[in-house]
Amino acid sequence: MQVEKYIEEFNKKTRKSKEAYDRIKKHVAGGVESNVRMIDPHPVYLTHGEGQFIFDIDGNKYYDLLCGMGSIIHGHNPPEIRQAVIDRVTKGGDVLGAPTEMIETYAKNVKKAFPSMELVRFCSSGTEATMNLIRIARSYTGKEKIAKVEGSYHGGHDYVLHALHLTEKYLDSDPNNPPCLPYGSGIPKYITENLIKIIPFNNYEATAEILEKNADEVGTVIMEPVMGGGGVIPPKDDYLKKVRKLTEKLGMVLIFDEVLVGFRIAFGGGQERYDVKADLTALSKIAGGGFQVACLGGKKEIMEAILPRTQGTAAEVEAGMTSAVQVGTYNGHPTSLAAGIKSIEILSRPGTYEHLENISDQLFNGIRGQLADKKIVGAVNNVGPLGCIYFDIEKADNWRATLALNEEKWMKLFYGGLTKGVYFGIPHPDERFFLSTPFTEEDIENVLKITDELFDDIKKGD
Ligand SMILES: Cc1ncc(COP(=O)(O)O)c(C=O)c1O
Repeated sequence: MQVEKYIEEFNKKTRKSKEAYDRIKKHVAGGVESNVRMIDPHPVYLTHGEGQFIFDIDGNKYYDLLCGMGSIIHGHNPPEIRQAVIDRVTKGGDVLGAPTEMIETYAKNVKKAFPSMELVRFCSSGTEATMNLIRIARSYTGKEKIAKVEGSYHGGHDYVLHALHLTEKYLDSDPNNPPCLPYGSGIPKYITENLIKIIPFNNYEATAEILEKNADEVGTVIMEPVMGGGGVIPPKDDYLKKVRKLTEKLGMVLIFDEVLVGFRIAFGGGQERYDVKADLTALSKIAGGGFQVACLGGKKEIMEAILPRTQGTAAEVEAGMTSAVQVGTYNGHPTSLAAGIKSIEILSRPGTYEHLENISDQLFNGIRGQLADKKIVGAVNNVGPLGCIYFDIEKADNWRATLALNEEKWMKLFYGGLTKGVYFGIPHPDERFFLSTPFTEEDIENVLKITDELFDDIKKGD
C-alpha cells in the first residue's frame, strides 16, 4: 500500500481537522503554532490528552508517541500534577514579577538529579536556556566563538540554527571538518562566518583536531549527550568522556543541552547515564511536567557571571564591566514551577525508570524483531524511552550516516500510524518517538500489532 492510500484514509478520518485548517490558516501562519507542526495535507487539531492517549477534533483517539515533543513523561493530565497546578492557581498570583520560595524547592530537586548544576536560574523554553548559557559561557571565558555538533538541534536562536542540514553542494563535504551552514533565512552572515565551528559527534579524533586548532578563539562547546537532532544517536567509544577531558585541558566551557534527554533517559539525564559532568546544563521539556519551565545552571564560578558586578552604566557596559544578562518576565513562573516540582518528585520514586526501560525494550526490540523477520533494512536506535527508526540504513552511529535514510518508508509509517491510531511524532523522516509511564505492556503489544501491519505494507511497497 502506497503512502497516497494512507493519506486518502487520513483525509477521511480527519475531515474536521481539514475544515479547521482551512479556517485557521487565514489567521495563523501555516495554521500551526510552530513550523514542525505542519503536516501535509493538513495538521491534526487535537482537543486533549489523557494518560497515554491524545484525541483530535474528529473524535479520533491515538496512542501518543509524540509526547508533547518529548515533554510528557507522566502521560497527559496526571492527577498529582493537575492537583499541584490547581492548588497553585487557587492560591493566586499567576505571575508575580518577584521571587517565590518555590525556586529553592525546584533548585534542590533539580540538583538531586543533576549535581553538576550548583547554581541555577530559570527561563521558559529550551531555546532561551541554550541562548542564555552560551552568553554566560562567553562572559566567563571572554571568547566569542562556540563549537556545536553537526546535526544537533538546540532551539530556535541564531547561534545554534546552524549545521542542521546539508545543501546539495555540501553533501560530499568533509565529515571530519563539517561546514557551517545557516538553517533557514534571516540569520546574520556575521554569525555564520565568524562565531561558530562545527564538530562531528562520535568522531573524537576530528572533534579534537578542530577544537585544538581553534582553541584560541573557541571558548564554549555545546552538545546533547545523546543526539536527538537527526534522530537518536547515542554516544559511542567514550566520546563524551573524551570531549569532557579535552575541553577541561583546553579551558573550554562544556554545555550539555539536556532539554530533550534530561529526566528522560535517566533521572539525571545523559550525565547520569554516561557518567560525565558538564560545566553548564540546559533543562526544559520534562523538567516542567508539561508546563513551560526551563532551568539553566552549572558550576558556581561560571554561573556567577550573571551576578551584577556594577549597575551597568553606559560607560561600564562599554568597558566590559557588567555581568551577563539573564532575564525574563515569566522566569520561574509559579504555576509552571508547581508542575515541574511535582513532575521531578514523581520521577524520583522507585521503579519509574525501570518501568520506562521495560516498556522501551519491549517496543524497540519488538520493532527490531519485526524488521528482521520481514527482512526490511532499518536501524532502530533507542536510549530508554527515546527512539527512532532509520529505514534503509543498517547502522546509524553518526549524523552523516543518517542522511541515507528512506523518507518514503517513514512517511508510510507516519500516515499509516495516524490511520490506525498511533501518533508517531512528526512527519519528518528522522523523527524520534517517545514513551510515557502510563503505557502498559498491553499498550505496547497493541502498538506492535499496528507496526507489524504497517511494516507488511512497507515491505509490499518495496
Ligand atoms: C535538544 C533540544 N534543545 C533545545 C530545544 C528547544 O527547546 P524549545 O522548543 O523549548 O525552545 C529542543 C526542542 O526540541 C531540543 O530538543
